[in-house]
This record gives sequence, C-alpha cells and structure tokens, in this order.
Amino acid sequence: MITALLFSVLTLTPTYTNDIKPLFQKKCAQCHNAQVLPHLDWTKYENVFKYRESIYKRTIVIGDMPMGSTLNKAEKKLIKDWIRGGAPK
Ligand code: HEC
Repeated sequence: MITALLFSVLTLTPTYTNDIKPLFQKKCAQCHNAQVLPHLDWTKYENVFKYRESIYKRTIVIGDMPMGSTLNKAEKKLIKDWIRGGAPK
C-alpha cells in the first residue's frame, strides 16, 4: 500500500528536467533567458525553483504569463503538479 502510494507519487510528479524545462524553453525562453532577463532566466533550475510561487501566481492565478501567448490546460496542470510536488529537478 505504502509502496504503491510512493510509487505513484514518484512517477506522477513532473520534474524540471523532463517536463518544465522543455515547456519553458518553448513558451518563455525568448524573454526569460540570460540576456534579456538574467535573474528570471527560466533555462536555469535554480531560478525557476526560487521563483516557483511567483510562477504559480502569474501562470495559474493571474494568467498574464506567458506574455503574448497562452498555456493549455495540460501545460497549466503540469506546472501546478510540479510545484505541488515540491518542484524537483
Ligand atoms: C514576450 C516576453 C515574455 C514571455 C514569452 C514570458 N515572459 Fe514572463 N516576464 C516578462 C517580463 C518582461 C517580465 C518582467 C516584468 C513583469 O514582472 O511583468 C516577466 C516577469 C515574469 C514573472 C515575475 C517574476 C518576479 O519578479 O516575480 C514570472 C513569474 C514570469 N514572468 C513567468 C513567465 C513564464 C512561466 C513564462 C512562460 C510560460 C513567461 N513568463 C513568458 C516577459 C515574458
């Protein structure tokens, strides 16, 4: 039971490397990169982890990011699940 639960948590929680980075590369990195917004460079795990609450707010609660485009339901769920799961690398 506990093993099954642990297994499902481990397999269902998205990771930065496999899920968030490719998504942010596609939807955010034209602005959120080392040249344009260095402290908000989403190609670096450390920055995304540090700003995860703000990212949650702007993409899920307010919805004004990504600027100039939108996220679909599945992409929003991915961000939500990742942050709720502890934002693993
Ligand atoms: C077209 C350019 C552009 C794109 C694309 C974009 N952003 Fe932004 N973003 C900005 C700019 C400029 C700021 C700084 C000004 C502001 O806070 O509104 C910003 C600020 C933010 C902040 C606030 C950071 C803080 O200071 O707390 C978050 C969070 C954020 N963006 C997340 C995202 C995410 C996640 C994506 C992709 C899903 C994204 N943005 C896509 C331009 C962009």
